[in-house]
Amino acid sequence: MMDKSEQKAPILKEDLRVINQTEIAPRIFKMVLAGQMVNDMEIGQFLHLRVPDPSKLLRRPISICDIDREIQQVSIIYRVQGMGTELLSQLKSGDFIDTMGPQGKGFDISNVSAGQKVLIIGGGIGVPPLYATAKALAEKGADVTVVLGFANKAAVILEEEFNHYAHVTVTTDDGSYGIRGYVSTVVDELTDDYAAIYACGAPGMLKYVDSKFEHHPHAYMSLEERMACGMGACYACVVHLKDRSEAANKRVCEDGPVFATGTIKI
Ligand code: FES
Repeated sequence: MMDKSEQKAPILKEDLRVINQTEIAPRIFKMVLAGQMVNDMEIGQFLHLRVPDPSKLLRRPISICDIDREIQQVSIIYRVQGMGTELLSQLKSGDFIDTMGPQGKGFDISNVSAGQKVLIIGGGIGVPPLYATAKALAEKGADVTVVLGFANKAAVILEEEFNHYAHVTVTTDDGSYGIRGYVSTVVDELTDDYAAIYACGAPGMLKYVDSKFEHHPHAYMSLEERMACGMGACYACVVHLKDRSEAANKRVCEDGPVFATGTIKI
C-alpha cells in the first residue's frame, strides 16, 4: 500500500527570476520567484536555493508558501538566521537564483471532500507552507479551521491571507495579539471531528500535535530538519521511526518533509 503522504515529483534545476522581495515581519522575508519549475510544484514541498556567494556551498531549503501556475510564480517565506539567508534577503527584483526543486513529499489532501471539516495548525516560520494547503482545501470545498501561534504581535504573518480561505484563530505566547498562549490552548478546546489535520511548526508544537492526533488516520506534520544535499544522498536529515519493524530511518528531504502523525520520533 502506498504511504499516505507519498507523492512523486521530478527534481529540476533552474535559475528562477526574483519578481519581488519584502520584509513582512522583523527578519521574515517573502520572495516571489518565477520560472517553469512552478508547473511541477505541489503544496508542502520545498525549494533548495543556492546562496549567491561562492563561499556558501550548501543550499538553503525553503518551503513553498503559495503557487500560481497561471503566471508561473511561487512565493516563499523565510526567516533570516545566518549569513546565507541574509544574502538571500538582499536579492532584488530581476536577480536570478539557482534553484533545485520542487523537492520532498508534500501534504496529501486527496482524502478530503467538499463540506468536510479540516484543521490546520501552524507555528511561527512553520506557518507559510500551510497557506497553499489551506487554499487548496478551501478550493475543494472543505470547511477549514486554522490555528496559528506566534511569539508576539510583531511576528504574526499571513493572518489576513488565511482569512480568505479559513476560520482563523491566532495565539501569541505573550498575549500581545490574539489569544494568550500556545496553539494547544485553542486546539484543546475544539470539539469538532476533522477529516484531516495538517501541521507545521517548532518541534515542541509538533510533539503536541503528534501526541494529540497520533491515531488519526489523516493527520500530517511537516518537519524541518537541517539539510545538506537535499536530495536523499547524504543522510544529514535523518529522523527515526517509532515503529522499528520498518527501516528505522527516514530522510526528511526525500521521504518527507511531510509525515503522518504517529510514525516519527519527534
Ligand atoms: Fe542529504 Fe537529506 S539532506 S539526505
